[in-house]
Amino acid sequence: MQSDLIKRIGLQWPIFQAPMAGVGSPAMAAAVSNAGGLGALGIGAASVDQAREMIRDTRAATDNPFNVNVFCHKPAQSNAKVETDWLTRMAPLFEQFSAAPPTALHEIYRSFQVDPDMLEMLLEERPAVVSFHFGLPPTETIAALREAGIVLLASATSLAEAKTVQTAGLDGVVAQGWEAGGHRGIFDPDALDGKLTALELTRILVERLDMPVITAGGVMNGAGIAEALSAGAAAAQLGTAFIDCPESLADAAYRTALRSPAANETTMLAEISGRPARCLTNEFTRWAAQQGGVGTPDYPIAYDAGKALNAAAKSVGETGYGAQWAGQGAPRARCLPASELVEVLVRELEAELAV
Ligand SMILES: Cc1cc2nc3c(=O)[nH]c(=O)nc-3n(C[C@H](O)[C@H](O)[C@H](O)COP(=O)(O)O)c2cc1C
Repeated sequence: MQSDLIKRIGLQWPIFQAPMAGVGSPAMAAAVSNAGGLGALGIGAASVDQAREMIRDTRAATDNPFNVNVFCHKPAQSNAKVETDWLTRMAPLFEQFSAAPPTALHEIYRSFQVDPDMLEMLLEERPAVVSFHFGLPPTETIAALREAGIVLLASATSLAEAKTVQTAGLDGVVAQGWEAGGHRGIFDPDALDGKLTALELTRILVERLDMPVITAGGVMNGAGIAEALSAGAAAAQLGTAFIDCPESLADAAYRTALRSPAANETTMLAEISGRPARCLTNEFTRWAAQQGGVGTPDYPIAYDAGKALNAAAKSVGETGYGAQWAGQGAPRARCLPASELVEVLVRELEAELAV
């Protein structure tokens, strides 16, 4: 059951918890790593100090390897007219909550592509694994992390992106399918998207590349992990499966929605943050669906407006405007402590492999 990548990282099981910025936590990462999987921290939206603290909190709770994930999007292009027009369009939404939209929007976090301070922190803290989402950092950054002995992974949503990851000399590629929850790791969100499922993308990458592939998207149980492994994956990465764990930072409304019929319907949309991402269908996604897919500010500038709207809505008890990221497997999420979830996944996987 153990691939070279799993052995190299030092894991017991081919089970990766997906990094989930804003939802995962040090407690979750440590619990998964202690259970023999690969826990993960999503630091894409964190400051250097916050990220360092998250890494140290995780270390305090586990001696096992874990993954630290950064966002490598093209730095945001501000466009005052697009942003003003967007805020004008959103104004009626704010008005429902007796609030006004922000007067201006900002790039609320920096891409790792241009963040030497975050790199320095990672080189000091040296997590066992670092992974990239939305693209790759500069060659020198990859070289510095490699030299520090860190195993490097990156998401890809197509063969072309995965080839770029292989050429950059990374240790593994995360094949993210169309069904996956959260942000789509597509490098260029304006490019044509083949929308491959996780298993189909896995099969293609296994056949066409010479590097370990990790399947991400719609894997919710041991049978799903077994399917990924039989498609040639070295491991499966699960996000949505962990959202309802007690260690997750998902709030009560998010969990209620996840456990409700709303979980049967997810939407891929760029209007929340400026990049395509899959989320539970709610009041905001229904509004977004009427916007015609044009005029959304660049990522993560649009997210500044999305977060402000959610805060205004929540201040009057309305919870249908938040980014409740989830994949198509949402109705199958289980509410179990993260360590127990890994144990259950392992039991289910072993049962599948024994058949
Ligand atoms: C709540 C949530 C947050 C996510 N945040 C990140 C992130 O910060 N970085 C990242 O690389 N992927 C992120 N993802 C995507 C996952 O890495 C992974 O591709 C996805 O969860 C797999 O599909 P699944 O949700 O169906 O398991 C997130 C996914 C979810 C559900």
